[in-house]
Amino acid sequence: MWAAPADIQDDVHISGLNEGDLLTLRPIPVNAPADVVLERLKSYRFAPVFEANVAQSEVRLIEADQRSLRFLSSYENDSAEVLLFVQPVSEGRCVVRGIVSSVKCQQERMAILRQHNWLLSEARNSIEAELGSPLTPPVEVAPKIVQFHARPDSVARTESSGAVTALRVSVKRKWSECDDVMAFELVPLEGALPTAQPGSHIDVRLPNGLTRQYSIVNGPGEGSSYQIGVKRELDSRGGSECLHEVVREGDLLAISAPRNNFPLRRDAEKTILIAGGIGVTPICAMAQALHHQGLAYELHHFARTASHIAFARRLSQAGVNHRQHLGLDAAATAKMLHDVLAKYEPSQQVYVCGPGPMLTAARQIAQENGWPESAVHFEYFANDTLIDDSSSFEVSLARSNLSLTVGAGETILEVLRRNGVDMPSSCEQGACGTCMVSVLEGEPFHQDVYLNNDEKKQGKKIMTCVSRALGKRLVLDI
Ligand code: FES
Repeated sequence: MWAAPADIQDDVHISGLNEGDLLTLRPIPVNAPADVVLERLKSYRFAPVFEANVAQSEVRLIEADQRSLRFLSSYENDSAEVLLFVQPVSEGRCVVRGIVSSVKCQQERMAILRQHNWLLSEARNSIEAELGSPLTPPVEVAPKIVQFHARPDSVARTESSGAVTALRVSVKRKWSECDDVMAFELVPLEGALPTAQPGSHIDVRLPNGLTRQYSIVNGPGEGSSYQIGVKRELDSRGGSECLHEVVREGDLLAISAPRNNFPLRRDAEKTILIAGGIGVTPICAMAQALHHQGLAYELHHFARTASHIAFARRLSQAGVNHRQHLGLDAAATAKMLHDVLAKYEPSQQVYVCGPGPMLTAARQIAQENGWPESAVHFEYFANDTLIDDSSSFEVSLARSNLSLTVGAGETILEVLRRNGVDMPSSCEQGACGTCMVSVLEGEPFHQDVYLNNDEKKQGKKIMTCVSRALGKRLVLDI
């Protein structure tokens, strides 16, 4: 998406870049002022084709203005242009975005994406080191503004939470997407919406006071609104029912900025996307992004019937290939998952979102077929684990020099907040990863469904909303 001041009416033409061949680079956030980054990037060097290396290539800066730099890199008979944009985010932060021209084939796309990702990350590290900026940003805490509770229907509680619904939007469109699913298009009351990466979700504050999380289904270039899909849950405790029955076009809602706890890697040679039912929402955004980038993917959507397939039209209109697997029972689903995940090849990644039993089956089958945990990404709707909160233990906060006691029946998150440590959270049931912190000492008692088995064994992270200590003490990096 291109943005321009309102008085510029014409389309922006970027000369020298052939529309058909463009490849969008991964955005690189930098903890440094935009003008400094722009200056340092003037010495950016890259190879035009994957057969060449940077040292062999002749690179010229052929155009520069206040926000962008255009380079031409040549090697023997090959050449490629790269346009880098430096987008200011705040006084000390910016994001480097880029477009490459003249990409020939799939293999070349991957090689070029990797090259620029590495080169721009190196440039970022060097600029941040020079300016003394932290390479890893500190834990971001929710600002102390009105906080709303965020629990899914099945485990609703009434404590305050860190879900901050600070953006005001109106419901531009509401429509029946398929059986049991209503879709909503949300537009900002003023200004622009923050960019949402594939896999992101927003917290939506409902008229009945509840807050719920929904994945954004938008594809590339759809930055003027967020679209979400809401399945009516049979055991709804007020969330999906309110959106289906009460919320109308024109209504105003408060939402959070997008959070991404299910990010898509774009360096895989092939990506397998598996959705169960309404689990297609984050998968839909991922498939459109991969398709747009010309990267290899497969999308498998499991549903009861064809009339339970949400966002099929959106995917078809975007040209996304998707296979539907309809009406399969648990055994037939497992068999199909075995087929889909039969062969692991290095540099493949799989993303799964759907009901708990299907996710558990997919993870198990992937493991049986040799997929490493690091290549299997999943997002649960909810955590069905029966939480054991009977223990009492001490939590020491290394950076705050504070020691607190977590008693039976309370969570680490609640104790932190009660003592003035304002932590972000969203689902508050161990499914989304928002409340995760690093563990410096002690052994966590994991009760979440966000971390994979390897991460749980390592014991370096903990979900403060549900997990606890196995021993008497944990030291956390906050
Ligand atoms: Fe979602 Fe803790 S808030 S895992």
